[in-house]
Amino acid sequence: MSANSTNVTHPPREQFTGQVGFILAAIGSAVGLGNIWRFPGVAYDNGGGAFLVPYLIALLTAGIPILFLDYALGHRFRGGAPLAFRRVKKWLETLGWFQVMICFVIAIYYAAVVAWALSFFVYSFNLRWGDDTAGFFVGEYLQLADVGGEDPWFTLEFVPSVLIPLVLVWIATIVVLAAGVAKGIQRANVIFIPLLVLAFGALVVYSLFLDGAVDGLNAFFTPDWSALTDADVWIAAYGQIFFSLSVAFGIMITYSSYRQRRANLTSPGLVVAFSNSGFEILAGIGVFSALGFLAQQQAVTIGELEGLTGPILSFVTFPAILSQMPAGQIFGALFFGSLVIAGFTSLISIVQVVSAGIQEKFGLSRTAATIGLGLVAGVLSVVGFSTTTGLVALDTIDNWANNIGIVASAILMCIFVVWVYRRAPELRYHLNAVSTGAVGSWWYLCVGAIVPAILTVMLVQRILNLLAEPYEGYDTTYLLIVGWGTVVVLVVGAILLTLPRWRRDPDAFTPWPQYPALVESAATKEARR
Ligand code: ALA
Repeated sequence: MSANSTNVTHPPREQFTGQVGFILAAIGSAVGLGNIWRFPGVAYDNGGGAFLVPYLIALLTAGIPILFLDYALGHRFRGGAPLAFRRVKKWLETLGWFQVMICFVIAIYYAAVVAWALSFFVYSFNLRWGDDTAGFFVGEYLQLADVGGEDPWFTLEFVPSVLIPLVLVWIATIVVLAAGVAKGIQRANVIFIPLLVLAFGALVVYSLFLDGAVDGLNAFFTPDWSALTDADVWIAAYGQIFFSLSVAFGIMITYSSYRQRRANLTSPGLVVAFSNSGFEILAGIGVFSALGFLAQQQAVTIGELEGLTGPILSFVTFPAILSQMPAGQIFGALFFGSLVIAGFTSLISIVQVVSAGIQEKFGLSRTAATIGLGLVAGVLSVVGFSTTTGLVALDTIDNWANNIGIVASAILMCIFVVWVYRRAPELRYHLNAVSTGAVGSWWYLCVGAIVPAILTVMLVQRILNLLAEPYEGYDTTYLLIVGWGTVVVLVVGAILLTLPRWRRDPDAFTPWPQYPALVESAATKEARR
């Protein structure tokens, strides 16, 4: 019994009903905005077809190993991120809260993008954006104010066209999470993932028949092999994989903690990882076929097109394509419908990390935690991102939460779990004891050396870049407050959430199956007495 908790036992843990439900939920989490709006542009900018080489190497040496680390932590220690890390080492709870804070911050802007996609899904039926799609998105839809200089950094001028879908997204999130792991999360994914596969599959097939599709595919796949000697390309590949696979920020720890005690972990992990990457490449094919069509319409090359990544690709370039193509309405509904589904199934996983953390620490019921959290996050989301300054805030916070927050979190996990507390053998033993596919000792090399080394180089380089020149040319004071301020919020939040006492004893717990090395060392100690 730990000194700082009361003697209330934990209720039985919620569970996915089986392997398929878990796999669909994990794919739902992984396949998200990162796949559709980020991957195609990142791949194109970093060597096109040649990017697939570092991407695949990053998947095998970092993505899958960290996915297994997350699975092992969540499944062995049967808790959301703070509880699981605490059961590795008491003070590591703070790292768990750091991951929870990353999810909290990501959730509040991620929901906004899902809301935009929802609006654009509706707009696709009459191609409401007209011919000036950039003017429509930033002007008429977001009603964007300039940020910096004389202009306000932050306004409370709400934009109803964003606010209404955003409120709907939060209500849907609360409803799904309040229904629980099996009846809410699993059921939503069982319905939505097949729908996503159908909608996105139809979209990709359709895009292949567009005039100019071949040029787009050539631009996407033609390898620029010299890119492989560029360190930035490798960094981009490793950077893409963490957000995309939903690893190193608590999600897979939380989801795997809801699996039955005897549950195969490694083979489903491979299914999830390859499905996510397959979807990513499919998104590249669909997006670049459509861009090939646009380039042909405008009689330019793909390289001369602008806005090939992020919000601009989805909400400016794509609508321009839809306006010009035959049956643009149907293609638009498929594209934005896919974006809504992919984004929503990821959003619920992100919010569940926070919900699980506070349920476990503060002994809250699922409903109370979900509604309370949904209200707080929903209000912050509305205040931050449905105003005329929302886009710049979103871009800035996304950059810091992702490129600094998630990367730092992955490095810390490897350093403390693998090096300082030496739990890798126990975690590998766990994976192999419950799974059909065995994890070899190569895994130590990945989580103990490759991931921390590459990510440390990447983190240092990114910090230096951010210090050397203002991100996207935004005002430096704004970046200090909103960008670096995000990192401060993550760290301070993590420390503050560690301080209160646990409502239920987190340490009254014995991992199963027992790790032979621990049993042995206990016996050795006993013998010495
Ligand atoms: N994995 C999710 C995405 O790619 C968060 O968007």
